[in-house]
Amino acid sequence: MRRQTLSLTALSFLWLLISWSRNPVSASASEQQEQPKKIAVIGAGIGGTAAAFYLRQEFGPGVKIDVFESGTVGGRLATVKIGDDEYETGGSVIHPLNLHMKHFIEKLGIPQRKDVPSKVAIFDGKELTFEESDWFIINLFRMLWRYGFNLIRMQMWVESVLDKFMRIYQYQQYGYSFSSVESLLHAMGGNRFLTLMNQTLEETMMSDGFSQMYLNDMVAPITRVNYGQSVRVHGFVGAIALAGADSGLWAVDGGNNRVCYGLLYHSKSELIPARVTSISIKVRPSKTGSTASFYEVNYVEEAGSAHSLYDIVVIATPLHQGKSDISFSGFSPPIPSHYPGRYHQTVSTLVHGLLNMSYLGTTQLASEFTVSDILTTDSKGSVIHSLSSLDPVHIPAGYKRPPASHTKVWKVFSPQPLSQEQLKNMFLSWDFVSESRWLAYPEYRPPQRKTPPFILHNRLYYLNTMEWAGSAMEMSAISARNVALLAHHRWHGQADKIDQEDLHTRLRGEL
Ligand SMILES: Cc1cc2nc3c(=O)[nH]c(=O)nc-3n(C[C@H](O)[C@H](O)[C@H](O)COP(=O)(O)OP(=O)(O)OC[C@H]3O[C@@H](n4cnc5c(N)ncnc54)[C@H](O)[C@@H]3O)c2cc1C
Ligand SMILES: *[C@@H]1O[C@H](CO)[C@@H](O)[C@H](O)[C@H]1NC(C)=O
Ligand SMILES: *[C@@H]1O[C@H](CO)[C@@H](O)[C@H](O)[C@H]1NC(C)=O
Repeated sequence: MRRQTLSLTALSFLWLLISWSRNPVSASASEQQEQPKKIAVIGAGIGGTAAAFYLRQEFGPGVKIDVFESGTVGGRLATVKIGDDEYETGGSVIHPLNLHMKHFIEKLGIPQRKDVPSKVAIFDGKELTFEESDWFIINLFRMLWRYGFNLIRMQMWVESVLDKFMRIYQYQQYGYSFSSVESLLHAMGGNRFLTLMNQTLEETMMSDGFSQMYLNDMVAPITRVNYGQSVRVHGFVGAIALAGADSGLWAVDGGNNRVCYGLLYHSKSELIPARVTSISIKVRPSKTGSTASFYEVNYVEEAGSAHSLYDIVVIATPLHQGKSDISFSGFSPPIPSHYPGRYHQTVSTLVHGLLNMSYLGTTQLASEFTVSDILTTDSKGSVIHSLSSLDPVHIPAGYKRPPASHTKVWKVFSPQPLSQEQLKNMFLSWDFVSESRWLAYPEYRPPQRKTPPFILHNRLYYLNTMEWAGSAMEMSAISARNVALLAHHRWHGQADKIDQEDLHTRLRGEL
């Protein structure tokens, strides 16, 4: 009896040893034969190019990855050339704790843009109601005098959200993925995060004891500059906007869209300059006698229309009115071309000109006015959302931001294009104007209806649903990694890596 137990133990030990040593080999051998052959990504913004990068990481060197782009690589990350320099017209700043964006530039060997200290003022349509001093201590006293501890409390509030937000990096590091935005948010911050999506930022902050005056004077200008909307956006995107007022924000040297080109190159994807018009499902007999299904991607390129078959497709552009028009045929239940909800227009106007100081209702000398970002309150007089002195995407050695007495590049965000009248009011003179009309980010009106799924069909994924939690470069990157992990786990039938509950407790102590 005893002997047998012993030998059984020895046997199972031996088996363990064998399976340990064989496991990696047999796993990769079996994966090899059943890896997907072709993957399509629709859209070459930061979301699509990051998806290509992570898909390559998950599926290895054997799979062919095609990235379709109908416009310009970078999408909402874009620059305009004025004189000898380039300037960002779309997504511009990145938070110091945006770890995926940081990882990308490290991997690609692209440096951060040299920092130029910024200085903020707030304009109510008539005059400057707040102006940051060069002295930290003066700012602190001014704020304490006016708003008591609102400012410090706000920093703590944003930090508490950010703290939970950071959990996503650990989950993704361990390969965990989520099938909906809601389950991803729940894994990060539990019901609190879901509730944030269902309340306005105003409601959330008021019930946390912030004053209405502080919300109007300091918070609204921040939601306006970041999302072109009021403090009635939902609390989660509100927290992202407020984190966008933290210190240590950075940008990519040479332009943020360089990351997209770099990711395309690094992932060894093929860029197909074409507009995808429809996706349909095709069933083909397979070698083994059964059937296999593929996605047929139909597209229009310069040479005319064409189509190709793919095992996996990732849609990395918003499926909304005015953003993209892709029709889906043969799916049951049907997939809509456009989901409900609207994208908000933000017009970004770059002006090379001389600022009219009286427009800001100030008698300060232009030669002494070195404010970089003028935010605006939500008042009748404010036709613009913000006015910023813009530094080029590459900061030359010895660069100092010139004062307002110099003709220089300004960036105006407004909900409508600026009229000649409005320009004449803001600028004494100008010699160059460039206007970009962006359908920039979702209109955030809580309560948030259920977000579209990450999984549109078996192997058809949708990245930009994430924007309904908050639109930012890092959010697209997080979504890209989530979708690549989902695609991998679902291809290999690893259900234990999808929508796991209580990850935070389970992974505690692992790092
Ligand atoms: C004015 C402005 C300021 C912003 N500021 C910041 C900021 O400071 N920091 C920050 O983090 N974020 C900012 N954002 C948000 C950020 O830019 C976006 O969240 C992010 O760039 C979205 O990337 P994406 O790849 O998901 O989508 P997109 O960049 O929109 O990429 C989608 C791509 O798909 C292509 N496409 C669409 N339809 C088709 C089709 N049928 N076939 C082929 N291709 C198609 C489009 O041409 C596009 O290139 C800002 C956005 C705007 C507009
Ligand atoms: C948010 O509101 C929607 C619509 O009112 C509701 O369906 C959903 O259950 C709410 N979610 C939470 C977490 O409160
Ligand atoms: C400058 O701004 C003031 C105040 O808005 C306005 O009255 C004036 O017409 C503007 N233009 C010039 C050239 O002063």
